[in-house]
Amino acid sequence: MTAPLLEVRNLTAHFARDAAARRVVDGISFHIDPGEAVGFVGESGSGKSVTARAIMRLAPEGSPVRWGGTVRFRGEELLTLDAAAMGDIRGRHIAMVFQDPMSSLNPVMSVGAQIDDILMRHTGLSRRAARRRTIELLDLVGIREPAQRADDHPHQFSGGMRQRVLIAIAVSCQPALLIADEPTTALDVTVQAQILRLLMRLRRELGMALMLITHDFGVIAGMVERVYVMNGGAIVETGPTDALFAAPQHEYTRALLAAVPRIEPGG
Ligand SMILES: Nc1ncnc2c1ncn2[C@@H]1O[C@H](COP(=O)(O)OP(=O)(O)OP(=O)(O)O)[C@@H](O)[C@H]1O
Ligand SMILES: [Mg+2]
Repeated sequence: MTAPLLEVRNLTAHFARDAAARRVVDGISFHIDPGEAVGFVGESGSGKSVTARAIMRLAPEGSPVRWGGTVRFRGEELLTLDAAAMGDIRGRHIAMVFQDPMSSLNPVMSVGAQIDDILMRHTGLSRRAARRRTIELLDLVGIREPAQRADDHPHQFSGGMRQRVLIAIAVSCQPALLIADEPTTALDVTVQAQILRLLMRLRRELGMALMLITHDFGVIAGMVERVYVMNGGAIVETGPTDALFAAPQHEYTRALLAAVPRIEPGG
């Protein structure tokens, strides 16, 4: 048996400003093995993003979150790790792709310069070496003429291409765990499929574990090995993806599955 890459026990989260201190994540436990692809599915507000961000120890600006429980990454406790050590893990060993690619990019900097900076900070490459690596990364995520495109600004890319840039940034330091929080929600259906295929290919090629968050069961079918179903800040059901699709145990899971549009053969 391999030790889990990530092991979360009894995680709780509430917003400190919330007078009632309602727990938006209410004591959840889960694990992700090295190289494993795991899905988190639940409707809007079920606590998926707060859970993902707890792993990165990211609180929304102006809304400090209080966390409880344990988040162990390679056996090391992250919730109490000092800020400098946590900063070293974030982006380097655990990386995240968010739903809205525009808000995660600096609009006044070329995408190449943004990737260069991350590489220089985390890996100590020189600017020249970083740029060579940036071009390789843009090529890796399927951006044509990467050397020229590196000088373009975010607004010069389509939504799907911006998401590819964010994925390039996320995998730039070869993280052991990639968290993708609704990475395709803002994109149209054909582009969604391309981005999901890209994530699966990179996961295979780079040997990363993937935590794929979505409200749509259709997105994870054929993508992940195991699923956690979240509702109201709790995990209500978990199991191998095939088993869960074939025989959902929980009423809420059945309702989510019923909402997935069926693709009829030949349709
Ligand atoms: N900055 C905040 N301040 C107060 N409450 C918040 C904040 N962000 C999220 N919440 C609350 O935390 C709960 C969980 O939110 P979360 O964003 O994790 O849901 P989600 O499952 O990611 O939903 P979605 O599918 O819409 O992204 C929700 O009830 C939400 O209202
Ligand atoms: Mg969310």
